[in-house]
Amino acid sequence: MADLRVCVIGTGAMGTDHIVRINTRMSGAGVTAIVEPDANRAAAALVHAPEAKQFPNISDAIASGLIDAALVATPGAFHEEVLLPIIAAGIPVLCEKPMTPDVASALRVVAAEAAGGKKIIQVGFMRRFDEGYIELQKQILGAQLGELLALHCAHRNPSVPEWYGNDMLIADSVSHEIDIVRFLTGSPIVSAEVKQLKRNKLAPERLNEPILVLLETESGVIATVEMNVSVQFGYQVITEAVFQKGVSEIGRSNGMTTWEAGRSSTAEHVSYLTRFARAYDDEIQSWINAARIGQLGGPNAWDGYMSVAVVEAGLKSLHSGAKELATYATKPAFYN
Ligand SMILES: NC(=O)c1ccc[n+]([C@@H]2O[C@H](COP(=O)([O-])OP(=O)(O)OC[C@H]3O[C@@H](n4cnc5c(N)ncnc54)[C@H](O)[C@@H]3O)[C@@H](O)[C@H]2O)c1
Repeated sequence: MADLRVCVIGTGAMGTDHIVRINTRMSGAGVTAIVEPDANRAAAALVHAPEAKQFPNISDAIASGLIDAALVATPGAFHEEVLLPIIAAGIPVLCEKPMTPDVASALRVVAAEAAGGKKIIQVGFMRRFDEGYIELQKQILGAQLGELLALHCAHRNPSVPEWYGNDMLIADSVSHEIDIVRFLTGSPIVSAEVKQLKRNKLAPERLNEPILVLLETESGVIATVEMNVSVQFGYQVITEAVFQKGVSEIGRSNGMTTWEAGRSSTAEHVSYLTRFARAYDDEIQSWINAARIGQLGGPNAWDGYMSVAVVEAGLKSLHSGAKELATYATKPAFYN
């Protein structure tokens, strides 16, 4: 079977990481096209994909006949305008999270895909491909430790770039926990409540953080999420699951431990790109395999919409300080 010819749209941090991944570590695919308005970023990306052709927009890339699939890694605000021509062309797409920035646009994407009659969108919630989360989901489903009572999640970044604004705490960062809590519990989130923790004076002035987000599922599980983007020491994503008869934890670094001068220390990640490197690889390889036979799996556009709906409740709570309910549109039969 011929290799899948992939167009990467948006070649910033994530897009370039995916180009390197596809062209060096994945099998069955190659990057044949890119779309990137920033000339410097395009040039830097093309170093990793010397065969690829650059197009001014996704429609021209599709019209060229040079691509079989698309990987969207523009900022979320541009996802809808890139996704709609892809959906019209009916080609498989991996769209980075968040699928879109708000509920109205997420529902437009869902409606367009459903009208096309074929599931072609996978959303980039790569944590669903992380070994730790997969093992924890199995443990929850197996119920060896009894019923799941609560989840405690910590999502910590050393620092964030200057374009990272306060709403991004929820829309860009907690959106990962929003998806993974539903993945782990198998139950939709019904409310989000944001508490301000004592402010870290090392945080940039525009950010009011860390925050604690309480996500409650329909099944009655509360997940606490400490969202903290100025921890200085490294990048850490830890999840503790509290059961009736025990507790499990995933996400501790398994980096090298060094004993020196009366102390021991273990190497910690400093970026999501290494913490989730294996998960990104497994996510993209499984997408490539599925796209080649025309049967996408993984988180779909409805999962993308479900998370956007909770992000909206979370943003409301970030501003109101109150617990806000998440409400959902009726699921189209297409997604059953
Ligand atoms: N899954 C994850 O863990 C993860 C991690 C980081 C980022 N992301 C997501 O990946 C996406 C990209 O994030 P990033 O950190 O790489 O951002 P980035 O700013 O580094 O890169 C985005 C690139 O898209 C380009 N761009 C903007 N509008 C465009 C358009 N209309 N067409 C083509 N290119 C366009 C920009 O010039 C830029 O080079 C976002 O949706 C983000 O939330 C996901």
